[in-house]
Amino acid sequence: MINLASMFLHQSVLITGGLGFIGSNLAYKLLGLGAKVTVVDTLDPDSGGNPFNVEDIKDHIQVIQADINDEDQMKRAVKGQKYLFNLAGQMSHLGSMQDPFKDLNVNTIGQLRLLEVCRQNNPDVSIVFAGTRQVYGRPKYLPVDENHLLTPLDNNGVSKRAGEMYHIVYNRVHGMATSVLRMTNVYGPRMRIKDDTLNFIGWWFRQLLEEKDIQIFGDGMQIRDLNHVDDVVTALLLCATHPAANGKIYNLGGEPINLLNLAKLMIEVNGSGNYKIVPFPENRKRIDIGDYHGDYSLIKADVGWQPQVPLRDGIAKLLDFYRTNKKHYF
Ligand SMILES: NC(=O)c1ccc[n+]([C@@H]2O[C@H](COP(=O)([O-])OP(=O)(O)OC[C@H]3O[C@@H](n4cnc5c(N)ncnc54)[C@H](O)[C@@H]3O)[C@@H](O)[C@H]2O)c1
Repeated sequence: MINLASMFLHQSVLITGGLGFIGSNLAYKLLGLGAKVTVVDTLDPDSGGNPFNVEDIKDHIQVIQADINDEDQMKRAVKGQKYLFNLAGQMSHLGSMQDPFKDLNVNTIGQLRLLEVCRQNNPDVSIVFAGTRQVYGRPKYLPVDENHLLTPLDNNGVSKRAGEMYHIVYNRVHGMATSVLRMTNVYGPRMRIKDDTLNFIGWWFRQLLEEKDIQIFGDGMQIRDLNHVDDVVTALLLCATHPAANGKIYNLGGEPINLLNLAKLMIEVNGSGNYKIVPFPENRKRIDIGDYHGDYSLIKADVGWQPQVPLRDGIAKLLDFYRTNKKHYF
């Protein structure tokens, strides 16, 4: 296993989407490893971007409020960086159907622009792109491995597929160091929980914390897998530094659990709460992927990653975080 502390000490690192959920958790970790951290973020109001996400480290990182499509700003931002964690993105599935061009603009066009800026100004930067399991669509078999057909069910799956493929093309054709992580449901502190626009898990936590019923769509039998954000951060760091990850696309994944059992576990860890089974709203049902869990054996074999945070512990830590920081996230 790579010694991450020695890899990042005094290294310059850029995080796009660094004021969002995963990006800010990554910024904390990198700062702890002794890296010089810059984040670029538009603070898109529809996203998990939140200045409070970096409150404790804001005096120790550089924050650039800019769009990844802004070539001049990005030229300056990428120069001299050793690593680039490319997390800027629109991740709402429903949002991608309601405003497809906004989704396309960051998840596809912005990615190509950023890669071009890197190619022309810093072709040696090592890039990890935040992909998604949404590219698979409705699974034909479980667990889903990287050879599964790609038949996304919504615009977000299509735009993210293009975004990840640009990264792979820039590796194959231009020899740049890029890799892609297809993330599954990520949870943890600093995720957006103020509404249900980004993901159901954050909203379930909000309902639990406000002593409202957790609303489960359908029958609760849908299977998902979850990764704690600390595990995702480790995967990002490993892929940036491990030679075996160069040019690769990897699934992340975790223990499969059905949604009913997930709700019950959250209630148990919280010590109280209720759930309610409700009909699937039609607009969500049309883009629902059914059952999913990811096969992460490839990333495990190549870079030694596997999830470490037990779901129960992750839920407890998350609840503590939001009880303390409620006013910045509700
Ligand atoms: N959270 C998950 O469960 C999950 C699952 C699969 C994939 N992903 C991917 O991981 C990445 C990060 O997700 P997250 O959960 O941290 O989301 P998030 O919404 O919390 O963070 C995304 C950040 O990107 C910023 N952003 C949006 N458009 C931008 C632009 N044009 N230029 C610069 N910044 C911009 C937003 O302001 C926000 O701070 C996304 O690309 C997402 O698609 C996340």
